[in-house]
Amino acid sequence: MRLFLDTANIDEVREAARMGILSGVTTNPTLMAKEKGISYRERVVEICEAVNGPVSAECISRDLRELVAEGRELAAWHANVVVKIPIDETGLEATSILSREGIKINTTLVFSANQALLAATAGATFVSPFVGRLDDAGQDGMEVVRESVEIFDRYHLPAQVLAASLRHPRHIVEAAQAGAPIATIPYAVLKLMLKHPLTDVGIERFLADARTYVRESARQRANP
Ligand code: E4P
Repeated sequence: MRLFLDTANIDEVREAARMGILSGVTTNPTLMAKEKGISYRERVVEICEAVNGPVSAECISRDLRELVAEGRELAAWHANVVVKIPIDETGLEATSILSREGIKINTTLVFSANQALLAATAGATFVSPFVGRLDDAGQDGMEVVRESVEIFDRYHLPAQVLAASLRHPRHIVEAAQAGAPIATIPYAVLKLMLKHPLTDVGIERFLADARTYVRESARQRANP
């Protein structure tokens, strides 16, 4: 399973890249709105240079001609850019046109396995079910991940399920168990994945015991 970071913050991207766990990044307009003093293009290019993998940049056009033109423009920003397009009729049509030109598409705002199937059939490279937002609406978000993975596998569809809108560490485990080849994770959740109180206690204990051992060895050397 590949781990992407769900952020438009360059410091978060760089830190995750340094940890050696980062395979890609997803951005969206909401994440970008938190960033100040930099254009979307500049930030996406910066992220592309910090991570060796796909970086999703989201289209905002609603009209087909404009959406296709925007998709081509975003794709030209950097070789790692994946064009993110929300699913609807226009989105599918744009996906079909752009994917035939060799542009990689991440279909976003997917809330059902039917939408996932349509996106994969239209030529999307990545399909992003929004787990957390479905959970918020009282549904089982992970079920859409499970169903989409099963359908793509059974019919050998090349699209990859990118589990998105993940809100806590259990979501990552469940997405992995569901067979999602990719999970995109907010930075705060990535930090939570890393943490366990018993690890902290264990490190303290080992360090304390090591200090005792070093002291004792020194004492024995001084007084053989
Ligand atoms: C990623 O591609 C999505 O845009 C993101 O995971 C949405 O997450 P949210 O539901 O927490 O906004």
